[in-house]
Order: sequence, then C-alpha cells, then structure tokens
Amino acid sequence: MKSRCIVLIAYVTLAGCAADPANETYYDPLEDYEEIDATTVLDAPGPVPGSVAPERLFQVQRGEYLVELLGCGACHTDGALEGVPDFDKSLAGSRIGIAYNNPLGIDKPGVLYPPNITPDEETGIGTWSDTQIERAIRAGLGRHAGRRIAVMPWQGYAKITQEDVDAIVAYLRSIKPVRHKVPDEVLPGKTAEYPFVYFGVYRSRAAD
Ligand code: HEC
Repeated sequence: MKSRCIVLIAYVTLAGCAADPANETYYDPLEDYEEIDATTVLDAPGPVPGSVAPERLFQVQRGEYLVELLGCGACHTDGALEGVPDFDKSLAGSRIGIAYNNPLGIDKPGVLYPPNITPDEETGIGTWSDTQIERAIRAGLGRHAGRRIAVMPWQGYAKITQEDVDAIVAYLRSIKPVRHKVPDEVLPGKTAEYPFVYFGVYRSRAAD
C-alpha cells in the first residue's frame, strides 16, 4: 500500500533566531521561523451608521455574518495572522503576507499580502464592480479576469449562492473605507521586507 504523508504548515512567521553553534551540521529549514498561536476571534466591522437603507439592512447584516463565518478578516486584517488584529483596520488588508512556495526548500518564497477589501477607492476595492468582487470570492479571479488569485481559499467559497455573495458585496460596500496600502507581491527569490506566514498542504513524495 502506498503511504502518503500530508503535512500542514500554518502560522509560521519570520523571526531572526541564530543557528545552534553546537550542532552546525543539523539542517533546520524552519530555523528562521517561530511558531505562532493565532487564536483571536475576529468580529467584522459594522456598516457605517445610517448608511444602509432599511430595506437593505437584512441583506447587509447577512453579509456581515457571512464575512465573519467565512473568516475573511483572519487574512484581510493587519496583525490577524499573528493573533493580534488591529481592529481599527478591520478588513483593510494585512502587512503580514502569506508565502506560496515550499517552505522546506525555498528560503525566499513568493509572498502575497491580503489586500484591503474596504471601499476605499485608492487602496481598497471601492472602484471594483459587483461582478469583479463576486468573481474574486467564488472563482478566484483577480480584477482583470484571467489572473488567478493564488492564495485566497476561494475554492471554499465557490459554491456560495448568488443571494449570499450579493449579501457579502452589499456588506463590503457598507463599511467604512479605510486608507491602507498593503505591500506589493514579493516574487520568489526576492527578499520580503515585511513578515509572512506559511499556509499549505504538502504531500511527501516518498511513495511516488
Ligand atoms: C487565507 C487568507 C484569505 C482568506 C481567508 C480570504 N482571503 Fe481574500 N485574498 C487573500 C489574498 C492573499 C488575496 C490576494 C490575491 C491572491 O491570493 O492571489 C485575496 C484577494 C481578495 C480579493 C481581491 C482584492 C484585490 O485587491 O485583489 C477580494 C475581493 C477578497 N480577497 C475578498 C475576500 C472575502 C470576501 C473573503 C471571505 C469570504 C476572503 N477574501 C477570504 C487572502 C484571503
């Protein structure tokens, strides 16, 4: 029988820690990383008071509930990936990134920083159309369709109903626009200036 080993690596962030001088031959690919216990429960910010027409309130509240339930803020909020969210910048993007290359083999992985999804026109999604937001959520497509969203777990949202995705869009449009620019993507091989975590499922090739 083929044995398969799947390793899940999550919440590991960059930290400077020195190699053990007594054991120089030991190779520890995660020696520059520390384990993080990110257990904070995040509330999604409420809509801007008075901004939602009474007949849309139910839809917007449903969207808020779904954004909390689907964990959007856990990535899209500064500090949340390390368990210390900045509640003033809820959903306004994260300066802690997520690496998308093999953590055991590449010491300078590509890194994406979860973007600002508040309605700020310059740094958020204020100028995105409803369809563009919807496609990002359920099909993993970037604004200029064709570019795949690599890190966001859109597969988990792909089966969302039209009603629910409409509610998320209505909710995202109702919250306070927060001006907050996240760092640009770091390509593999380049040095990331901002910290990042690893997510991912890695299968051992041993049984191939
Ligand atoms: C595991 C982290 C993670 C979670 C959870 C997550 N996202 Fe994302 N999201 C990202 C990253 C990273 C990107 C940047 C694109 C990429 O992955 O390639 C992104 C991109 C987006 C974009 C496109 C915005 C842009 O400027 O490119 C939208 C809209 C979005 N996410 C909305 C959501 C919503 C709504 C939820 C919850 C239903 C959610 N995300 C959950 C990480 C996440």
